[in-house]
Amino acid sequence: MKYALVTGGSRGIGRAVCVRLAALGYHVIINYVADRHAAEETLALARQAGGDGELLQFDVADRIRTRSALHEWELRHQGAYIEVLVNNAGIRHDSTLMLMQDHSWDRVLAVTLDGFYNVTQPLLLPMQAHRHGRIVNMASVSGLKGLPGQTNYSAAKGGLIAATKALALEVARSGVTVNAIAPGFIATDMVSDLDVAALRQLIPARRLGRAEEVAALVAFVVSDEAGYITGNVISINGGLYT
Ligand code: NAI
Repeated sequence: MKYALVTGGSRGIGRAVCVRLAALGYHVIINYVADRHAAEETLALARQAGGDGELLQFDVADRIRTRSALHEWELRHQGAYIEVLVNNAGIRHDSTLMLMQDHSWDRVLAVTLDGFYNVTQPLLLPMQAHRHGRIVNMASVSGLKGLPGQTNYSAAKGGLIAATKALALEVARSGVTVNAIAPGFIATDMVSDLDVAALRQLIPARRLGRAEEVAALVAFVVSDEAGYITGNVISINGGLYT
């Protein structure tokens, strides 16, 4: 059995990734924080796609809880390892830096950067021992370009991109690839508060992206054929470059 863990898999891009990977034959481990019902819907969709999976609750920013959840998973699946990790969990708390509340800075960095560390670190040794692994980090155009009102989010996603590049070099020789995907604007709950009509005018493709389009890119990056792609940031943005 091939196991793939997707953080924040209950909705949006994470859900689409779970469904796509399940269709490819992965047993998907659908991480969620609070919305078990939505995570169960993702699992039902994964099954409809011909695959299977399971739910795994933890807050990626909570190191102790994350480690114990991953450890318990290992105990329940003796001899198995997670060969694909999609660090998809992320949040936005937009504000200009001058008006930013401490918790907005702290939480956005904690979910994105501590989350990356907390989930990835325990899974590295098994991947390296099996000489095969795929790590995909969901970054953003905001981490490449820097967007006003998103100093926290840009810092977090920019840091995630740098971490992607550094880790890729550490593990390349053991058959583990590490890449980042940088979506532009994708139609999910995360952008539901934005002015879509105005956004479309900014995007050369004149539309938002679909979560399924991002999932298709993840599917390629984790495939065997993509084994020579590592340390990369792949944009998917309808032409909205930096
Ligand atoms: P979303 O808000 O629909 O989904 C985010 C998911 O992350 C949710 O399932 C949420 O429960 C989960 N999550 C949040 N905090 C968590 C935590 N502490 N632990 C575990 N899970 C947690 O948003 P969307 O659009 O699906 O975003 C997915 C990823 O793509 C995020 O990292 C986001 O920053 C990134 N992204 C999204 C873009 C967009 O336009 N929608 C553009 C660029 C990047």
